[in-house]
Amino acid sequence: MRIAVLSETDAVETRVAATPDTIKKYKALGADVAVQAGAGLKAGIPDAEFEAAGATIAANAAEALKDADVVLKVRRPGQGELEGVKPGALVIGILDPYGQDAALKALAEAQVAAFSMELMPRITRAQVMDVLSSQANLAGYRAVVDATAEYGRAMPMMMTAAGTVPAARVFIMGAGVAGLQAVATARRLGAIVTATDVRPAAKEQVESLGAKFVAVEDEEFKQAETAGGYAKEMSAEYKAKQADLVTAHIAKQDIVITTALIPGRPAPKLITKAMVESMKPGSVIVDLAVERGGNCEVSKPGKIATHNGVKIVGHLNVPGRLAATASSLYAKNLYAFVETLIDKESKALSVKWDDELVKATCLTRDGAIVHSAFQPKA
Ligand code: NAI
Repeated sequence: MRIAVLSETDAVETRVAATPDTIKKYKALGADVAVQAGAGLKAGIPDAEFEAAGATIAANAAEALKDADVVLKVRRPGQGELEGVKPGALVIGILDPYGQDAALKALAEAQVAAFSMELMPRITRAQVMDVLSSQANLAGYRAVVDATAEYGRAMPMMMTAAGTVPAARVFIMGAGVAGLQAVATARRLGAIVTATDVRPAAKEQVESLGAKFVAVEDEEFKQAETAGGYAKEMSAEYKAKQADLVTAHIAKQDIVITTALIPGRPAPKLITKAMVESMKPGSVIVDLAVERGGNCEVSKPGKIATHNGVKIVGHLNVPGRLAATASSLYAKNLYAFVETLIDKESKALSVKWDDELVKATCLTRDGAIVHSAFQPKA
């Protein structure tokens, strides 16, 4: 059994799908691992470290893919990236399948079994494989670090001989995994933190981190969580009430971090241009939803925009701004899943196609798109 770890071709991608630590574990399962030369460089892992862990270094993608049964990636392989892949090979990564019909067709045509890690069900057994959580947690932390760096004032209250510096007011919109980590990080830095969400369960979580919860808590709010724990798209009426509440609150904030997402849908627009204009010059907004359309009307993907003296930070791939940590956690998530696809006795691949985790994540197999949620429209 042979595993290939490819370099990432997307310019903003800094992470790598394996670390020396997981290479050792794959070797212990009986696999040979080929790592494409330079794959770990942006995450601070030189080829020599992969080699010392037991991997062979392949000069290019084609060489790494040769005879590979499993291909590990961070992002979905682009056009031509899977040239030379063995039919039937498993390709595992964060494949971002929503609205990507052509890319899914290409994966099917490459005859690979493609697995999208972000579709992993959020059940106890799969927690260790939850890439959304491992990466969102880091994004939430990094958003506060980025906001702090862009903000021209201090975060904590300081009493000095030269005068008292007030604590920064930080508002976190969306209190899921990223938002809660942002709340915790901003609190650690001494900010006065408030947070909002449309899911009632978030209230207690925000309060348990020592922040104040701000939300329209009506009947719709009480029903806003899906069985899977995610937010629903809210009604226009709720959004209007939410906007009224948020408008007054945002005007008093120094830093706003937005993390609101709805699976498979564009990010909800929570901060209008007028709201940005109500903020003091020098304030900072970090829009973590920028890759999914953004939570703020004036954010620009991949840029730090300025509007009326307010900086709107729209970095892409925020987990990748902590490339070493993000890779290490992502590689562990991948290993935990791959381990379930290998028979420990025979040391060979043995995918249980009816397993709940396999069914939830498998997009393509035997030349077809097999996932019910991504069937091509007739
Ligand atoms: P997410 O990344 O899909 O969304 C981020 C946050 O935005 C969510 O809290 C969502 O409610 C919120 N949001 C959506 N629309 C909004 C709006 N209009 N205004 C304000 N906020 C809005 O969510 P994430 O971080 O993946 O977490 C979703 C839930 O799943 C959480 O309850 C989390 O605790 C839970 N979870 C459960 C796990 C498990 O059981 N294994 C693992 C990880 C998370």
